[in-house]
Amino acid sequence: MISVEPSGKVLGASVRGIDLAQPLSDVDFGAILQALGDYGVLRFPNQRLDAAALRDFSLNFGSIQGSVTGQFAEPGVPEVGILSNVVENGKPIGLADAGQDWHTDMSYNETIGFLNVLYAVKVPRRGDQVLGATAFSDMGAAYDDLHPDLKERLKDATATHDFNKFWEMMRTRPGSRRDPLSPAQRSNRPPSVHPLFMSHPITGRRVLYCNPGYAVRINELSPDESERVLEALFEHQLQPKFRYQHSWSEGDVLVWDHIRTIHMAVADYGPGEERLMKRCQVMADRVFESGFRERGVTSPSGRGRAQRG
Ligand code: SIN
Repeated sequence: MISVEPSGKVLGASVRGIDLAQPLSDVDFGAILQALGDYGVLRFPNQRLDAAALRDFSLNFGSIQGSVTGQFAEPGVPEVGILSNVVENGKPIGLADAGQDWHTDMSYNETIGFLNVLYAVKVPRRGDQVLGATAFSDMGAAYDDLHPDLKERLKDATATHDFNKFWEMMRTRPGSRRDPLSPAQRSNRPPSVHPLFMSHPITGRRVLYCNPGYAVRINELSPDESERVLEALFEHQLQPKFRYQHSWSEGDVLVWDHIRTIHMAVADYGPGEERLMKRCQVMADRVFESGFRERGVTSPSGRGRAQRG
């Protein structure tokens, strides 16, 4: 029987009493979806997963997106990406700077992201200080707190999200090992348009679906006004009152909801302070399209509907 212990903060809960390496029963699956809807970021401590088990657990929630460059995936399990600053025999074993600024994975896709599933293998420490946290901000709370006039004015607005924005931001930082995206890679990840405000597929709650990493334009506004409003939204959504931070332990699996949150990997550790994470990026295909009806959990909390907009 699983237990869910809320963090008592704006986001976050710990889920115990489950071994994620085993097949997930429909009952536990429904309980996890409900906890995701309620808390947005779930920690499953003390897990031991090989790459295939991490993939299989993640596939319960939707299809998995592979790497755009084809680099830094687990051998034989391309759905599992390696995020790491570890260097072996002079070669990096993972993408070292993944996610090191505010963003939402896969907002640039036609089918947006639903979840990240991140498994901590090595966590950097300096003395007794744990480094390399992951920070979150709650976009349900950020939507609620928008000025009513702005909510009304932007209620049917859409934003364009572009993968290349974040890629270039990271690539042009000192020490980056990223190459510019090739024309083929760019056309593999073309920009996409999504409503600025969405109804969450689990809870039905309105969320602000916008993030500094990928949002480039509010389409219904002039370019100048779009720029001004986006800057104001970015500032609004990063206020400390919406924030939550997860400090890692080895064996943690963290599952977070991309529709409800934006996030950032905190780069406060150095080259010799090793961090190794394994990641599956789960798309919102099943949560919007089927609502997991076949598992008897169309709307796990009984509050929502599986639709966008
Ligand atoms: C990510 O942005 O997907 C990675 C977050 C992290 O490594 O903490």
